[in-house]
Amino acid sequence: MNGFSDRGGSHGFGPHSAVVGLQWGDEGKGKLVDRLASGFDAVARYNGGANAGHSVVVGGQRYALHLVPSGILAPGVLAVIGNGVVVDPERLIEELDALSARGVDVSSLRISNRAHVVLPYHKAEDGLREELLTAVPSAPDSAPKTAVAAIGTTRRGIGPAYADKVQRATAIRVGDLLRPELLRSKLDLICAMKNAIFRSLHPGDAEQFDAGALTERMLELGERLRASIVDTTYLLNDLDRGGKSILFEGANATMLDVDHGTFPYVTSSNASSLGIGPGTGLPPQRVGRIIGVVKAYSTRVGGGPMPTELFDDTAHRIRERGREYGTTTGRPRRVGWIDLVALRYSAMVSGATELGLTLLDVLAGLDELKLCTAYRTPSGMTDRFLPDGFELGEATPVYESMPGFGDEITGVRSFDDLPESARRYVERIEAFVGVPVRTIGVGPDREQTIEREAGVSAGSGS
Ligand code: GDP
Ligand code: IMO
Ligand code: MG
Repeated sequence: MNGFSDRGGSHGFGPHSAVVGLQWGDEGKGKLVDRLASGFDAVARYNGGANAGHSVVVGGQRYALHLVPSGILAPGVLAVIGNGVVVDPERLIEELDALSARGVDVSSLRISNRAHVVLPYHKAEDGLREELLTAVPSAPDSAPKTAVAAIGTTRRGIGPAYADKVQRATAIRVGDLLRPELLRSKLDLICAMKNAIFRSLHPGDAEQFDAGALTERMLELGERLRASIVDTTYLLNDLDRGGKSILFEGANATMLDVDHGTFPYVTSSNASSLGIGPGTGLPPQRVGRIIGVVKAYSTRVGGGPMPTELFDDTAHRIRERGREYGTTTGRPRRVGWIDLVALRYSAMVSGATELGLTLLDVLAGLDELKLCTAYRTPSGMTDRFLPDGFELGEATPVYESMPGFGDEITGVRSFDDLPESARRYVERIEAFVGVPVRTIGVGPDREQTIEREAGVSAGSGS
């Protein structure tokens, strides 16, 4: 027994699994989901929308998935979009058509009739709100401390769509795309309200939306999706009761969770594993294995604090080697050393039972690797995370240093064949976080993965 494997205690593990990001997104969740998917009966998304960009590389072919679960690439596996996702039907259909054109069978897609719809006015509102906030900070001394800066959203309408869900009366759900009269009456009211708001914010130059045209277009898209629209809560619970296995695919990541991330620089859903229950209707205790995905360093896209951010040659080197440009927006990702304080917190919040370490190959060739193990703050040192965007903005990292590894590791397939300093780096991460690293990514391809079954000694945190 290694001190980690009995996390389920005497109650045992639930039968299902989840892959969830533990940093600020883009940890390599798509690759891991794709690798695991064929061992499951269904892969289900529970949060986010087209803000996600999950890359999967199979046999040299790269796929970028945004709304469609990455499990779509595994033949015979159901790909489920749960009720907690916000669905932009235009983008979903574009994505399905592009996958079909590449020979992927998309008939296994199921969409919750209770998922909320992202409409064109949500995207307009997302852009407008961002413009009204100040510019995204790009240098360390402009990191937000007291003023609210732009969030640096993906402008996919995510925040406004979730806001309308909570507002209730101004929300459209996927099931409404199949009810012409209800849809028209809702859109009449909603467009009148949205148009008035846009006019007041942008007098003279406001984008205006026509309820009739919008209804027509949404009904058309609804017809295209009709065969896939079902009650996914019953679907998933029936699978569960029938002894089938489900893999939950987190979008965005724990540090972007609206409740537990670096608020307000977060997305608008519960992007930690805590979103699985509300986002699918499956009781969370049914999910026993939670794979926390961790990049071997840190990246972040958009605004908000990132204590270990780098602006030097090392950052440039990591960004280029790791191809750190957004899958959804193409924006260069901010890059920094691994933040173990943040990681231990997000592994705790998401209940990670194991870690999937990714992109370790990118660090090859660096003389020194730094790991943040505490923060200096105006009120002293702490090794506890500060999940408040403004408090975290005032924290500076305290580093531990380890020797780097020179050799390329993209061809390595066993832990023992890694250079010693790479192994020590991995062991330091799992010891600090207190969760074992089970897989290590050494390249983007499905096959470029080290499986590591051996347990680790339970390390003391700090
Ligand atoms: P996701 O949003 O968590 O699915 O991650 P993204 O797909 O947005 O970003 C991860 C990037 O790293 C993609 O370009 C992947 O193809 C790539 N990737 C994933 N794992 C590895 C790895 O172990 N090594 C390298 N070099 N690239 C990886
Ligand atoms: P995947 O699933 C990286 C970030 C945005 C922005 C903030 C809010 O590929 O890991 P939003 O459009 O959601 O309102 O933007 O959250 N963000 C992501 N960053 N990967 C993602 O998804 C992200 N989804 C949202 O950059 O800072
Ligand atoms: Mg991504």
